[in-house]
Amino acid sequence: MFTRNALGAALLVLVAGQVIAAETPHLGTPVTPADIAAWDTSISPDGTGLPPGKGSAAQGKEIYALKCTGCHGVAGEGKPADRLTGGQGSLATDAPIKTVGSYWPYATTLFDYVRRAMPLNEPMSLTNDEVYAVSAYVLSLNGLIGEKTELNAKTLPKIKMPNHDSFFIVYPGNLK
Ligand code: HEC
Repeated sequence: MFTRNALGAALLVLVAGQVIAAETPHLGTPVTPADIAAWDTSISPDGTGLPPGKGSAAQGKEIYALKCTGCHGVAGEGKPADRLTGGQGSLATDAPIKTVGSYWPYATTLFDYVRRAMPLNEPMSLTNDEVYAVSAYVLSLNGLIGEKTELNAKTLPKIKMPNHDSFFIVYPGNLK
């Protein structure tokens, strides 16, 4: 009897499973690896994930003037949005000024952030070359690279940000 009941229960589950499958609304489309790649844009501090492309501050100057100045100021001084330049040496004072130049530990974060989020009114609209160039311009406004330094997947991770050493890993054992 037990066996028969167990068989009956198994059949019931099978039938219920078929009913559930038949009742799915068939919404959406399967996600392809190419779809995922378009959104999988995270870049590690060591540069893993940086795409091909290149740009210098000289090239980024015009892009910045057209697409960033309105919110971040002509020289990154801010207003109405965040200040992007200056503040180096101010972090330990009573009036710390946190900017890309004074606070951010990794230059690669600038590429990642600008590519995914800026300009605020048109995110993900810049080409990779434009993101390299405008990132170079912001770094040059902070005095961290020269006008002609070419940023690409190899050179960008090598830039040492002024505040890099003030960040430390609290739980190094958790790193894999
Ligand atoms: C329409 C306004 C607007 C435009 C245009 C714009 N930004 Fe921004 N930006 C913002 C705002 C607002 C924030 C803060 C967002 C937040 O904190 O969530 C921000 C944040 C940033 C930050 C991070 C600052 C920090 O220290 O946290 C960077 C870097 C940046 N923008 C770069 C750019 C660049 C480069 C461009 C041009 C390609 C650009 N932005 C265009 C409004 C704008």
